[in-house]
Amino acid sequence: MDSSDALVSRVFREKVLKWLKRYAPFVATLLRRRRKVFSALSLFACLFVSVLVLRSIDGTAYEAAVSKLDQFRTLSTSPQPVIDSKQQLVQLYKKIHFDTSLEYPTVYGLHTDLLTVQIGPQKGEKLNSAADLRFYDADPRLVWSVLASHLAQASKTVVPLPFSWYDWADFRDYNKLISVQHSPLNCTFLFGHHFNSSLLLQIETETGERLFDIDRTYYNTENGPELSESEIQDMLKRANDSCVADSRSSQLDSKRSQSSNAFSTGFIVKTLQDQVRPEVYRLQARNYILHTLSLPLSLTVLNGNSGAWQIPIKQDRRENIMQSGLLQEYLDRGSKRSKTRGELDHLSEFDKFAESDGSRHLLVDIKDLKEEKTKAFAGLFTYLQKSDFEFDALAKIEELASRAEFLTAHELSYLDSLRFSTQTHFAFTPKYFQEPGGLKDFLELGRHHDARFFNGAIFRNPDQSLLRLNSMMITFQAFLKANHLTCWLAHGSLFGYLYNGLNFPWDNDFDVQMPIRHLHILAQNFNQSLILQDPREGNGRFFLDVGSSITHRIQGNGNNNIDARFIDIDSGLYIDITALSVSSAMLSNRDAVFFNQRKDSIGTELKHRDPNLIANKTDIPLQELYNKLANDSSHSDEERRQVEQLIQAYKINFPSNPSPTKFYAADQRYNLNHELGLYNCRNHHFVQFDMISTLVSTKYHGVSALVPSKYIALLKREYRVPMKSYGVTYQSRSFLKGVRSWIQSSLLRKLMNVAGRHEGLESVRSPANNLNAEDVEILLRNSAKSNSLEFLAYMHNSKEISTYRLKEIELHFSQKYTAEKKHSLLIQLYNEVGSRLKPIMKDPFIRFLQDRKWNELSSQLELSSDDLSELNLEFAESVIAWNSLLDRKDLPFLSRLSDKEAGQDDGDLNINDGAVDHSIVFKADPKLFE
Ligand SMILES: *[C@@H]1O[C@H](CO)[C@@H](O)[C@H](O)[C@H]1NC(C)=O
Ligand SMILES: *[C@@H]1O[C@H](CO)[C@@H](O)[C@H](O)[C@H]1NC(C)=O
Ligand SMILES: *[C@@H]1O[C@H](CO)[C@@H](O)[C@H](O)[C@H]1NC(C)=O
Ligand SMILES: *[C@@H]1O[C@H](CO)[C@@H](O)[C@H](O)[C@H]1NC(C)=O
Ligand SMILES: *[C@@H]1O[C@H](CO)[C@@H](O)[C@H](O)[C@H]1NC(C)=O
Ligand SMILES: *[C@@H]1O[C@H](CO)[C@@H](O)[C@H](O)[C@H]1NC(C)=O
Repeated sequence: MDSSDALVSRVFREKVLKWLKRYAPFVATLLRRRRKVFSALSLFACLFVSVLVLRSIDGTAYEAAVSKLDQFRTLSTSPQPVIDSKQQLVQLYKKIHFDTSLEYPTVYGLHTDLLTVQIGPQKGEKLNSAADLRFYDADPRLVWSVLASHLAQASKTVVPLPFSWYDWADFRDYNKLISVQHSPLNCTFLFGHHFNSSLLLQIETETGERLFDIDRTYYNTENGPELSESEIQDMLKRANDSCVADSRSSQLDSKRSQSSNAFSTGFIVKTLQDQVRPEVYRLQARNYILHTLSLPLSLTVLNGNSGAWQIPIKQDRRENIMQSGLLQEYLDRGSKRSKTRGELDHLSEFDKFAESDGSRHLLVDIKDLKEEKTKAFAGLFTYLQKSDFEFDALAKIEELASRAEFLTAHELSYLDSLRFSTQTHFAFTPKYFQEPGGLKDFLELGRHHDARFFNGAIFRNPDQSLLRLNSMMITFQAFLKANHLTCWLAHGSLFGYLYNGLNFPWDNDFDVQMPIRHLHILAQNFNQSLILQDPREGNGRFFLDVGSSITHRIQGNGNNNIDARFIDIDSGLYIDITALSVSSAMLSNRDAVFFNQRKDSIGTELKHRDPNLIANKTDIPLQELYNKLANDSSHSDEERRQVEQLIQAYKINFPSNPSPTKFYAADQRYNLNHELGLYNCRNHHFVQFDMISTLVSTKYHGVSALVPSKYIALLKREYRVPMKSYGVTYQSRSFLKGVRSWIQSSLLRKLMNVAGRHEGLESVRSPANNLNAEDVEILLRNSAKSNSLEFLAYMHNSKEISTYRLKEIELHFSQKYTAEKKHSLLIQLYNEVGSRLKPIMKDPFIRFLQDRKWNELSSQLELSSDDLSELNLEFAESVIAWNSLLDRKDLPFLSRLSDKEAGQDDGDLNINDGAVDHSIVFKADPKLFE
């Protein structure tokens, strides 16, 4: 207790005293007199102080103190109803914006949630049994309870699981359409440029709820926008082409009976048509997922980041937990245990599953990754082999074909895919990933979404998209680590990492790279799997999809630069996964010097050939292919035209192409690239083997990730990278010292308030690109007072990861330490500090529940702007306290936990200051090796 007590620095105590003074004067008086008085204190103060001291170890003492005091305040005020609901609002406000823990604001009850109709004309009605359900909200607590409990019963033989997208993707708004009974709903509703507004009004009147919220103003004119005559024609044509009646429900009479149209709107979307507005397309796509999209081949359930279970999915029909009977089974099992109150505890069901015998047979174990299992992510460095960058698909086909009867569904699909890919000339590879680029009134933002899983214009709500992107990244990293797949941050994601260990807040996707060998392992084991985040960590659901032509490693016809995607099924946002491989691509000019220095040592003998080419079939140059096609009736005119276009494009670009290898033949280039260790993605970004051959373990978005050791050199190949680590500006945002976070230039100007124009805000004196510590404090308080909530919350919630990265920068770039010393400090940072990082953002589903509760509460009572700025100030002060402890090298977050080596300097990362000059720190790569 004493040594941890010592961690509570003076600044910290001052702050706490200030709070105590404000809220609990008598405790404060006692505290001021003598610390020893503690032991004799009242129950309250004692509890309070011990929590405070303990929490200080992980750096959250200040918040803990504040929240403890709030409880204190609640307890000491008389229970007036108004104060109560105000207190509830205050607590909820803090939880929503400043607390990232996975904490459900409500419980899920069988009777109150599942068996009470939640939306639509029958809202509030009680159902007798689950058999009466026509729709339900697939709340993760419900679905996990049912599924985990079912799987925990499973025996040694693995039985494919019934599946419907309905249980895993978000159908909340779509359920409103299912609930409609009288409004004349048919295909046309989902294929117009915008909704038929009189029908929309009718539906919303019938259901008593809005069908969507984002960008509502478009429909706000008195009778809503009309569809023009040509728009009506287009709508009818699209609906006729792409949509049919649901035979199940249309067979019955026009008056919808209870069971006939369960889980159906009465029509089925067969193909997607994106020439409509986002709110229309979104429901079209949900219908498509529900009825038409093929089912995943498996569920991959993460066990934290330490392992995964995989359960094959029954392919012949679509069945949600009600239709498959799993729900009823679960309820029956429950009634035996007399579950009287009907509250579901999905986490305890999940724990039971995790410990069950059945779960052991479902563990993923990838034989091809035996080596990596003991190596990747194991320590500070992950080493790659040159052989990871070439893959012989024809040999793989033989291997798989030789054990055809024992292949899993994933392997069968992969085998098909390899056959298709190797038999197809690059000129003819079809575009694999589809984005709804045609969406109307959406600034081409559709391209950042997968066409199938698009679920609304989420970019119009940046707060929401940040949550979803974060959930995606942390789940992806856990997925990689759990399965020993090697993959590192690339492009914009790596660039964002550079500054504060986070993606740029304006980026709407992530980019990662992996060696071609690992892409094949990914495809063989996970293509078309639905990856589920460990429910103890969050509710992310992601579809892993690998393209159909991954044996081609050049840009080819340009259709398939991306190899695979990790797609959020509730927004369509994705991580772009690209593989690096030897190929016959022409080197970029950037590698001219490297190439020219080495080319003479290579010789002319062709030592390496692309193992994936089939002679006289897929290795034919374009011109030869064209000639061959001329007399080949098995090819269409369209194909001839495609080849002709590629030849034209090549001829136009060739003269100005600066590539040092443009005069070499394809097979020579393959040989050269192989010999030189130059690998490329299909968009022809090259890297040199030694830039990535050692990967460094780090933390990104608060979780374990890998970056190439020469990340500065890599970034410089694509971007202009300033030498300083702060005060830089991109995309009208600046990265501020002391704040360690990006801030919009317009907001920065306001918060600096240099000319004093904003009343109630103090003015900042030091320059924006080099703020001093006092001015950072002013800026933070100003952000609280002006209710710049997004900025304040982002900075507050990311202070741990940004401080982690700050320390890492000092260690990576220090001139003071030997490599050996750096390694030991970095390991300590990674293992000890890194393992206690709190989530930097909240789970999107928890946020949804909290927002819903917020809307309920605040319909009765609102917090005043004074209330808000007072609340915000608490958190601004907490960042100020954090910064000041960091400056004084006394931040508990960076202190060594184990007492053993406490007294020693090198135990405390506060004291180990690598002494780097941040104004030139990024001028060259980190020096991690002698
Ligand atoms: C579809 O519904 C619209 C009303 O929104 C109606 O005018 C139209 O006749 C319906 N079409 C069919 C084929 O039922
Ligand atoms: C729009 O909906 C109304 C009400 O259902 C219907 O009468 C009308 O025909 C629809 N208009 C079009 C263009 O489908
Ligand atoms: C609807 O599609 C069918 C074929 O599926 C076609 O015969 C018919 O002409 C189409 N009607 C309209 C109005 O486009
Ligand atoms: C992944 O699965 C899809 C859908 O079955 C298939 O088209 C694609 O070729 C597969 N990719 C690989 C590399 O197996
Ligand atoms: C490919 O075609 C050439 C003639 O164009 C022929 O000489 C050669 O034997 C063929 N190779 C194979 C493997 O069929
Ligand atoms: C195609 O066939 C015609 C005659 O059948 C022949 O004259 C011509 O040279 C052939 N073209 C090629 C590219 O083989």
